[in-house]
Amino acid sequence: MEKKREAISAQDVLLAGPVIPVIVINNPAHAVPLAQALLAGGIKVLEITLRSDAALEAIQRIGAEVPEVLVGAGTVLSGQDLQAVAEAGGQFAISPGLTQRLLAAADQESIPLLPGVASASELMEALEAGLTALKFFPAQAAGGIQMLKSLHGPFPQVRFCPTGGIGPHNYREYLALKNVACVGGSWLVPSEMIGQGNWSAITRLAHAAVSGTTASS
Ligand code: 3PG
Repeated sequence: MEKKREAISAQDVLLAGPVIPVIVINNPAHAVPLAQALLAGGIKVLEITLRSDAALEAIQRIGAEVPEVLVGAGTVLSGQDLQAVAEAGGQFAISPGLTQRLLAAADQESIPLLPGVASASELMEALEAGLTALKFFPAQAAGGIQMLKSLHGPFPQVRFCPTGGIGPHNYREYLALKNVACVGGSWLVPSEMIGQGNWSAITRLAHAAVSGTTASS
């Protein structure tokens, strides 16, 4: 069992910075240098998706060796996933959608869940579970900026991390919305750069995103 890090809230995740990299790690040895590269670029919150066998080990390694960042998991689909993430030392969990089973499991876990919603009805289910910090997924396909503006009227208390189809061309428009705290995306962590160990290019992408400019690799 990993040593537990300080407990955080879903709001802490949303407020840790303007961009959350959505990371797929295939080699656990890449985890720590990647986290350090992103941190050097000013990113303090990392979402490691459970889409690879290396994900949980990557979370463990980053939790143990890069204490300056908040590290959690994405693509959390079940209560079992949630438990595995907490046991690996993950500090939060993000899911692409929301089910009653997952919400019930989150109620029993020590780490916060940020579930994904794409409609007013799903949002109301999250509110019924007491959750107001949510992922909006798939952001561009589910209505993008206009949808988020529309949701702000009836649900002013909700803050979102939109993800899906967001990149250098549009992330600032999202961040300008009242109900958007941060955005998530894979553009910050291209798989080729990770595979090549091109950490300086990843630091440049991170720095550009955090400082509001765009960088070439
Ligand atoms: C996610 O996994 O949260 C999104 O699919 C990331 O979307 P993107 O690849 O369009 O950034």
